[in-house]
Amino acid sequence: MDDLLKSIECQARKLIGQGKVADYIPALAKVDPNQFGIAIYSNDGQLYHAGQARTNFSIQSISKVFSLTLAIKHYGDGMWQRVGREPSGNPFNSLAQLEYEAGIPRNPFINAGALVISDMNQSRFASPHYAMREFIRRLAGNANLLSDQNVSNSEYEFRSRNASMAYLMKAFGNFDNDVEAVLRNYFYYCAMRMNCVDLAKAFSFLANKGVSHTGEQILTARETAQVNGLLATSGLYDEAGNFAYRVGLPGKSGVGGGIIAIVPNRFSVCVWSPELNKSGNSLAGMAALEALSESIGWSVF
Ligand code: DON
Repeated sequence: MDDLLKSIECQARKLIGQGKVADYIPALAKVDPNQFGIAIYSNDGQLYHAGQARTNFSIQSISKVFSLTLAIKHYGDGMWQRVGREPSGNPFNSLAQLEYEAGIPRNPFINAGALVISDMNQSRFASPHYAMREFIRRLAGNANLLSDQNVSNSEYEFRSRNASMAYLMKAFGNFDNDVEAVLRNYFYYCAMRMNCVDLAKAFSFLANKGVSHTGEQILTARETAQVNGLLATSGLYDEAGNFAYRVGLPGKSGVGGGIIAIVPNRFSVCVWSPELNKSGNSLAGMAALEALSESIGWSVF
């Protein structure tokens, strides 16, 4: 496995230069594009990695899977009154469908959906950003994980699109809390810094019927399969179909260049390289996951 990861790294690194580091969040635009890491954590506790698998990066939208998990634990099926379960076919930060679909976002992974989930978690916790941080630390088994204030402040400063979505949902009656407070918390956890090893371990519960690498039952086996279903259909936004075709696994990307993918009953994987393609997903990361699934014959389809 180590040799395979090394050769995937070599191939994927050749693509660096063809994408573009996210620059709509100015603090993220400063990241060195010439980086690549990959880590795999298997259900029997083996860790494999290559490249800069222990370099921290901004997890961004990957955090939406953590917040969804927290919401499912508390709200169960009732939450689906407020957010859908369908792919949007639109970019992650699009406002278009929200207006004609009465403020109900298509799914929990586009920004509008993640903001509704944050609003739900805001109603439940006295200190939602610490609740999220502690949850993420527990899942990763790393008590040192922190959020980068430069990044979250930068996101807050340039929040117009996200704020527009949240206020539009408020106008439709689908937002309970103060919009600015929810935005602050959402940006806080998007700005969490983790590495490929942390993320592969943190998402091991999705590969292991809801049981984390420390033996904790995070979700039921049924809920775990449901989250994986949503990841497979919407985790990569308007590129979910392409990801299913090329990689064939449930996955979630972030504009920090990370992508996590789940091989149910076997492994969780995290790959990272900061340059993105047009849909906001890591260009080298997609190629690496495609090579991995091809060489080992992994696909859920
Ligand atoms: O709200 C945003 O735009 C960012 N904090 C997260 C977007 C993101 O990571 C989209 N994923 N590829």
